[in-house]
Amino acid sequence: EKITISVIKADVGGWPGHSRVHPALIERAKEVLSEAQKEGTLIDFYVTYAGDDLQLIMTHKKGVDSPEIHGLAWEAFKKATEVAKELGLYGAGQDLLKDAFSGNVRGLGPSVAEMEITLRKSEPIVTFHLDKTEPGAFNLPIFRMFADPFNTAGLVIDPKMHMGFRFEIWDILEHKRVIMNSPEEMYDILALIGAKSRYVIKRVYPKEGHPIPKDEPVAVVSTEKLYEVAGEYVGKDDPVAIVRAQSGLPALGEVLEPFAFPHLVSGWMRGSHNGPLMPVPLKYATPTRFDGPPRAVALGWQISPEGKLIGPVDLFDDPAFDWARQKALEITDYMRRHGPFEPHRLPLEEMEYTTLPGVLEKLKDRFEPIE
Ligand code: 13P
Ligand code: 13P
Ligand code: MG
Ligand code: MG
Ligand code: MG
Ligand code: MG
Repeated sequence: EKITISVIKADVGGWPGHSRVHPALIERAKEVLSEAQKEGTLIDFYVTYAGDDLQLIMTHKKGVDSPEIHGLAWEAFKKATEVAKELGLYGAGQDLLKDAFSGNVRGLGPSVAEMEITLRKSEPIVTFHLDKTEPGAFNLPIFRMFADPFNTAGLVIDPKMHMGFRFEIWDILEHKRVIMNSPEEMYDILALIGAKSRYVIKRVYPKEGHPIPKDEPVAVVSTEKLYEVAGEYVGKDDPVAIVRAQSGLPALGEVLEPFAFPHLVSGWMRGSHNGPLMPVPLKYATPTRFDGPPRAVALGWQISPEGKLIGPVDLFDDPAFDWARQKALEITDYMRRHGPFEPHRLPLEEMEYTTLPGVLEKLKDRFEPIE
């Protein structure tokens, strides 16, 4: 029998500004999910935060895209928004872009990563929760986990992994997707996913012959694009991901290893800047400097045979990631000194909002042809 793991998140109010989620919102969401667990809708759940994003981690038997589970998440976000309004939190209800729920939270503002899986004898998973960045931030680390032998020793030395993996890549501009094989098509994969604001890894699948069924994902990333949803850019969609580990998949340490390098991602201040992704324990998932730098939290779980969430273990709460944090701070300083200049500030087409149209309008009579 299959179990579904759903991670659904939304920013329904920051405390203060865009820094973090107020504990009262977490409490409210817990009450809603706790009720659902009593009624048997959920097997288990955990509520947490990453910066100003309220994170719901749930297990159940309803499959992916279940109206019941999405409805529940929507209700939790609505109730938490009420609390955010009472407390006067910043941007209360920010990510709830529509008033009415119609069976699925996709397209309504929240971000979703879900997978329905046949539990292995032991099922270690990691849920990743990022703030102040976008889904493309996962391209580099997910690629390294499942395709880079310099990151994942198992690709070379584990016979079950040696054949590689399949990548489902979405073109989020054209709403198309393609499934590509690694390592055979590695350079083509990189040609796409290096353009991380457009091509994003949505899922990773095993190949034929792997002990895990070919149609069951081993990694999944949220790819909702808020600006497309709302018709204008209302926020970078701070993403989440679920990754399975061990036994023919990257080991836990191979899943975490890519984050030892704080690569540049877009987001940060006003969703309009490039900056390093800093791996942090939950207690430091509270962006402050220039509303950042962007943060990554990794929570480790074992799924029990009944589908219970045994965890979380706060995986970046470890001195092994101190150097990555130190390096991220160095890069933070270096990038900040560019002020309003690219490539710290994003190119115009990727900025969350911009004054440029207004500036051009004001100058339109003063522009003259160059002889
Ligand atoms: P301000 O409304 O304070 O500019 O915050 C920006 C914002 O919410 C962009 O996501
Ligand atoms: P969030 O997307 O985390 O709400 O941040 C928006 C922002 O404008 C930060 O400066
Ligand atoms: Mg947001
Ligand atoms: Mg916010
Ligand atoms: Mg956020
Ligand atoms: Mg954002």
